[in-house]
Amino acid sequence: MTLLTNNDIEEINSRRTFAIISHPDAGKTTLTEKLLLLGGAIRLAGSIKGKKTQKYAASDWMEMERQRGISITSSVLQFSYSGYRINILDTPGHQDFSEDTYRTLTAADSALMVIDMAKGVEPQTVKLFEVCRRQGIPIFTFINKLDRQGKDPFDLLDELEKVLGIGSCPFNWPVRLTSGNYGLYDRRSKTMELYRGWQKGGLTPGGGQTMDEVEMRQTLGVDLYENFRKEIELLDVAGEPFDEEKVRAGTLTPLFFGSAINSFGLPSFFHEFLKLAASPAQKNSSVGLIDPHSSNFSGFIFKIQANMNPAHRDRIAFLRVCSGKFTRDMTVGHVRTGKKIRLSQPQQFLAQDRHIVEEAYPGDIIGIYDPGIYQIGDTLSQENSFEFEKPPRFSPELFSSVTTRDAMKYKQFHKGLSQLAEEGAIQVYKATNREEIILGVVGELQFEVFQYRLKSEYGVDVVMQRLPYQRARWVKQPPSSLGGFLVKDEDGNSVILYENDFALEWAIRRNPSVTFNSLEELPSSF
Ligand code: G4P
Repeated sequence: MTLLTNNDIEEINSRRTFAIISHPDAGKTTLTEKLLLLGGAIRLAGSIKGKKTQKYAASDWMEMERQRGISITSSVLQFSYSGYRINILDTPGHQDFSEDTYRTLTAADSALMVIDMAKGVEPQTVKLFEVCRRQGIPIFTFINKLDRQGKDPFDLLDELEKVLGIGSCPFNWPVRLTSGNYGLYDRRSKTMELYRGWQKGGLTPGGGQTMDEVEMRQTLGVDLYENFRKEIELLDVAGEPFDEEKVRAGTLTPLFFGSAINSFGLPSFFHEFLKLAASPAQKNSSVGLIDPHSSNFSGFIFKIQANMNPAHRDRIAFLRVCSGKFTRDMTVGHVRTGKKIRLSQPQQFLAQDRHIVEEAYPGDIIGIYDPGIYQIGDTLSQENSFEFEKPPRFSPELFSSVTTRDAMKYKQFHKGLSQLAEEGAIQVYKATNREEIILGVVGELQFEVFQYRLKSEYGVDVVMQRLPYQRARWVKQPPSSLGGFLVKDEDGNSVILYENDFALEWAIRRNPSVTFNSLEELPSSF
């Protein structure tokens, strides 16, 4: 145990660890990259992932993401800005990877929700928002694409309230001129900034000088100015006032308008966001809440990824530091196995660049080399006496049998299967009555990623055949009358696959003494 110094406490309090969530195409990647540019973490503007240009953002490192233009895996980006140490957790926007998103959010202290101004709250926004709400973390909103004609701002606030059930407190307010130009009014400083065109290179925010009331009146013209004033008065009277308690509880979202691609509104948004976003929070464990300022180091693994970088070909476990101070070469307890582990090559990430970390504090995410011992949810701690709450698992709803096309590749096939299962990318089952491997996933795209990764990372072509099942239930000592298709999971537990709810309910009715557990409700002692 190393006692924390004042400097350590300051380091902890300067951490801001947040996840960005959005419906695909709302501008999450663009915003992430602009924040990196703002923080000086990358220098090249215009390297944003483009579906047309085939360029990609620093946060997109999988070939498949580039090809398909979707964010599949959650990456971690770290940089310093304005006295803060920032950890951005990028989450997959695609619904088929909601389990990955869920796990990632357990490592975040706040969430930033990006919404397309023209589209408003979209289906995937709703799903991801629900996950954030369940985590009970503060949620901030960035309404993007202000440069385009979008929905009425009041309608957007209404949508947040009605569809997501969250009140919002706009920090700025958009103004659209008859010329098509647009501006942002800062409700705190009571000044307005007009967009003055794209600054080449994209780093300089595209704002002009800020205007006071007199200049606003002159620039907007009387009618537009009066209309704008009415809107601000309405906001002041009828809008939700800022309430830090509500923000912390995740029941009020501070809201900002802006245009990520033009960097317009970004510096002031980021400044406020960093001030308000939560510093490292206490985390739930088997012995109650663990305080980030306690002297003992502890953390949990929320993500495992094999072959993240083809140049390295290794497996990395992502650890969220939760308390104390981490130093390189530290020996810590691996609570699940009771083993002592020396963490000698901890890494931090900026896309494909990695560097060795000498020390890390609560809120930080570090990558540790995984020789095949870690599982998602594992706790590492100096005390070795408690475990952090495990992230929930989701019952798969899609199933497919899988075999290798080339029997000579049997060994690589099994290596790929078990590594991707340990990452949580798929679930693997074995049929009990014949030699057959069955994969279970939550979303269709997970099958495609599995097939693609087996080929590109393990050199194995697989043949997959969809099976007609939709429900999986864990059952102790299954009697023969349970119907469905009996398989074993990786721990040898009996799982029965059913074609639909009707078949499952029939089995439940016929076997009142049997408990049918979904994966979500599986007791840890099962
Ligand atoms: P995502 O990660 O949430 O899926 O979204 P991403 O950043 O990839 O952005 C989706 C599209 O929206 C991109 O256009 C991007 O350029 C555009 N975009 C992002 N921010 C803004 C903004 O403030 N204003 C406008 N008008 N567009 C914005 P694309 O055509 O799909 O790709 P590209 O060829 O432009 O890169």
